[in-house]
Amino acid sequence: MQRKTVLVTGGTGYIGSHTIINLYEHGYLPISIDNGMNSDISSLSKIEDIIGVRIKHYNIDLQDLTKTETIFKEQKIDAIIHFAALKAVGESVEKPFLYFRNNLNSLLNVQECAQKYGVKAFIFSSSCTVYGEVKSSPVDEYTELQPAESPYGRTKQMGEEIIEDCIKKSDMKAVLLRYFNPAGAHLSAKIGESPINTAQNLVPVITETAIGNRPCMKVFGNDYDTRDGTCVRDYIHIMDLAEAHTLALDFALYRQQNQVEVFNLGSGSGYTVLEAINAFETVNNVKLSYEISARRPGDVVAIYSSYEKAKNQLYWQPKYGIKEIMQSAWEWEKNRNLTK
Ligand SMILES: NC(=O)c1ccc[n+]([C@@H]2O[C@H](COP(=O)([O-])OP(=O)(O)OC[C@H]3O[C@@H](n4cnc5c(N)ncnc54)[C@H](O)[C@@H]3O)[C@@H](O)[C@H]2O)c1
Repeated sequence: MQRKTVLVTGGTGYIGSHTIINLYEHGYLPISIDNGMNSDISSLSKIEDIIGVRIKHYNIDLQDLTKTETIFKEQKIDAIIHFAALKAVGESVEKPFLYFRNNLNSLLNVQECAQKYGVKAFIFSSSCTVYGEVKSSPVDEYTELQPAESPYGRTKQMGEEIIEDCIKKSDMKAVLLRYFNPAGAHLSAKIGESPINTAQNLVPVITETAIGNRPCMKVFGNDYDTRDGTCVRDYIHIMDLAEAHTLALDFALYRQQNQVEVFNLGSGSGYTVLEAINAFETVNNVKLSYEISARRPGDVVAIYSSYEKAKNQLYWQPKYGIKEIMQSAWEWEKNRNLTK
């Protein structure tokens, strides 16, 4: 049977690169597009090394509608997974114009082309940040959204609304995936999180500190109302997250009834920052140098997710936990420093 073509925007980025592998392994034909603003094209050759085939890639800024359309003129696209966006909460507080422009214009352009060229399924990278400062966890898809804590979070809330409004007149199905905290690396240790911009997510900050590329890491606030005063997050292994995209695509293309569906993708439990640091140290037998500093603007106190809906409808559940996350992240960090 001919493989269905999936345009993966942000294809050389962290989640996109892992998802391309999973898509190919499950019978889809991924095509990548990325302008390299936060990733290195070299991840493409690592992907190809893992799956053993060449992946068609476009180096295009999705803010440019004319260039974006060239992809659709050249390729028959069956589905899109739209990862491309800027993602640093703190930076978005500093540079709101950059975030609104990049994240929303890219989405509008991809959506417009998708509709013009009859794309059947659209998977959107949303985020738990759309829930804002929640009153309690676990959150499920029916938890009321609170005002976003950052311009980044707002771009995800607006992104979800844009999709709902824009696809009404089409026969496209959309799945909005609200990720909790993706972490860890491909089990081959050939690809992992490797942003061009300074890493701000906890796990790469931990591994960069452990390898000696940062003298000391900061824990932002230890006076929150949590078990040990540090923020609580729900970490999901990148291998599990990648698989969820393939399953979401199967769902959107073959079973989805409603035009738009929302799914949380998390592990069902939360770890404080100090617990995560401790897990890394224990699993890898490495001591970390860290210091407590002031709270960071835009951070919510505590959030973790229920994944019941994804389990029931996507047939997805996480296979890996915090141990495998910390192990694989560390293997990747060591490997990428060897090849630098
Ligand atoms: N990693 C996380 O913690 C997390 C959590 C929740 C949601 N998300 C969302 O998931 C998606 C993917 O995140 P990621 O961690 O892989 O980030 P990433 O930065 O590694 O990947 C995003 C990719 O998009 C590309 N990109 C950005 N703007 C572009 C543009 N205008 N044109 C072309 N390419 C562009 C970047 O170069 C980058 O390679 C993003 O939408 C992000 O907001 C990520």
